[in-house]
Amino acid sequence: MKVCLVTGGMGFIGSNFIRYLFESNLDFKVINVDKLTYAGNPENLKDIEEKHPNQYKFYKMDICDFKAVDEIILKNDVDYIINFAAESHVDRSIINPSLFCDTNISGTISLLNSAKKNNIKKYLQISTDEVYGSLNFNDAPFTENHQLAPNSPYSASKASADLLVRAYYKSFNLPVNITRCSNNYGPYQFPEKLIPLMINNSLNNKSLPVYGKGINVRDWLHVKDHCKAILKVLKEGRIGEIYNIGGDSEIANIELVEKILKILDKPQSLIKFVKDRPGHDLRYAMNHNKITKELHWKPDVDFEKGLKMTVDWYISNRIWLENIITKEYLKFYEKQYKNR
Ligand SMILES: NC(=O)c1ccc[n+]([C@@H]2O[C@H](COP(=O)([O-])OP(=O)(O)OC[C@H]3O[C@@H](n4cnc5c(N)ncnc54)[C@H](O)[C@@H]3O)[C@@H](O)[C@H]2O)c1
Repeated sequence: MKVCLVTGGMGFIGSNFIRYLFESNLDFKVINVDKLTYAGNPENLKDIEEKHPNQYKFYKMDICDFKAVDEIILKNDVDYIINFAAESHVDRSIINPSLFCDTNISGTISLLNSAKKNNIKKYLQISTDEVYGSLNFNDAPFTENHQLAPNSPYSASKASADLLVRAYYKSFNLPVNITRCSNNYGPYQFPEKLIPLMINNSLNNKSLPVYGKGINVRDWLHVKDHCKAILKVLKEGRIGEIYNIGGDSEIANIELVEKILKILDKPQSLIKFVKDRPGHDLRYAMNHNKITKELHWKPDVDFEKGLKMTVDWYISNRIWLENIITKEYLKFYEKQYKNR
């Protein structure tokens, strides 16, 4: 049985990935290491913990704590490390860049050092399309060879981590892969991110804050498609390679928000345009030919259907949504959108 250390497994993508591993009935033991920041929620995996006591173990831990993480890796004879743990919200990175450097850069180096020390079979870094910067409307989508040109403290910290992962491959022959995905959506996403934020506000008849004129374009990838791609890269990805993962679903933010209101049968008048985010990237789009050709992966979830499924999930999980909205988050929300 292979032992897989997943960091940030109580967050949105990490918890979906662990769930996907168990749904796939693979011969894996999963060690989940998570600091439980505001974005980490043990409720996301409560059923998995109950159903698989011998195959799943959780440790509350900061990935920056090398000694603690290294002990877990050694003790559990870990084969693979998949690093999802991160401070992940661009707006928060504009408020507190240092925190993003701590977790996203120092945390990554702590994991790389332990991976090197313990002869890990593969280290997989979950990165983002945002490391490439921004595209104009007519530009071709990002390939893996596009220059790194991050524009926010978040994307700069993720790009820095990618470069460290590359350096550990080049300098120490550490077996690594990096995946760079576009915007994920689906169940268990913290409601500060665009889609669940708009769903939550619509459900509560609150105004929907849209940055600028809402013309910024994102490519949306259903989290299940992303999880399938991650597992493929873990099992079959060529050592040292970077793989782009995209959803083939580009849409302007304003159109997306209008779609959510339509699904929920709420008035378009709920939309409130607010002052734009500083350094707001205009457009992301991913060329995923490499993973499609080499590993035979492509996104399967149709965006219209995936969005409807996601809205339905949040409607069916109102308690999950209400419980995750803490006083801290409400304070952040007020500061972020009031008087903008
Ligand atoms: N969500 C997206 O659309 C998206 C897109 C591209 C890339 N990514 C990347 O995917 C990864 C997962 O993103 P997500 O959306 O699930 O994020 P998330 O914010 O939902 O979850 C992050 C998790 O990491 C944990 N964490 C934070 N700091 C930690 C630390 N120091 N030590 C241990 N755990 C810590 C949190 O408690 C949380 O459970 C991130 O690396 C992110 O950069 C996300």
